Amino acid sequence: MSRYSKGAITLHWLMAVLIIGNLAGGFLHDFVPTEGGQRSLVMSLHKSFGLSIIVLSLVRLGWRLANPPPPLPNYFTTGERFLSKTVHGAFYAAMLALPLSGWVMADRNTRPLGWFGVPVPKFGVEKAIADTAHDLHEILGWALLALLALHVMGIIKHKWLDRDNLLPRMGLGRAR
Ligand code: HEM
Ligand code: HEM
Repeated sequence: MSRYSKGAITLHWLMAVLIIGNLAGGFLHDFVPTEGGQRSLVMSLHKSFGLSIIVLSLVRLGWRLANPPPPLPNYFTTGERFLSKTVHGAFYAAMLALPLSGWVMADRNTRPLGWFGVPVPKFGVEKAIADTAHDLHEILGWALLALLALHVMGIIKHKWLDRDNLLPRMGLGRAR
């Protein structure tokens, strides 16, 4: 069975961990106590990892253009090919738009923005635009979570209904 390139596999799993971590940090930060600056630490990590995801997404897009993915197995129907392409394309769009909306919404307050302690400039947009970016950030967060559910359901469907394990294509385990 053909595999994605080593670069695509490394970026896929590194970014999966960071994005799932950031979805958890974003949706669950209200449950983190504010005492001892715990919540602000979580959010400062959320922002730092989120900003890193912008750079990683650009690197990944470049890598994807230079290294086309392996062809899908022959038995894939036209519908499955369309669905897989749509979900993967939407993932790429969300991986970039979600953290960018987070960056734009930083203008909602006057607190300095940082990447692991290194100062990062803000866009300097009006409050109304920053508020819209906030709404977008939340909507895109839910959208990315829905895409992740579809993605994982697709992989489970292929494994259990089609008896075809796609995980080795993404570097997990050996192909039959
Ligand atoms: C937020 C987390 C994740 C994101 C953003 C993500 C994104 C993607 C994208 C964009 C692709 C297509 C790669 C390309 O064509 O360039 C892909 C493929 C793949 N992903 Fe994920 N993924 C995530 C989590 C996962 C998880 C948890 C699993 C395991 C259950 C997984 C398993 C796979 C597999 C097996 C493929 C290859 C599909 C194929 O055969 O074409 N991914 N993923
Ligand atoms: C791929 C990266 C990112 C993901 C997956 C992500 C995801 C999320 C999610 C799901 C929420 C909760 C939304 C809600 O229910 O209101 C959230 C909140 C937040 N995010 Fe992100 N985010 C990312 C990047 C960023 C970046 C780059 C920044 C800023 C530089 C940022 C700043 C924030 C802030 C300040 C909140 C709290 C908003 C509030 O409670 O009012 N995020 N994020």
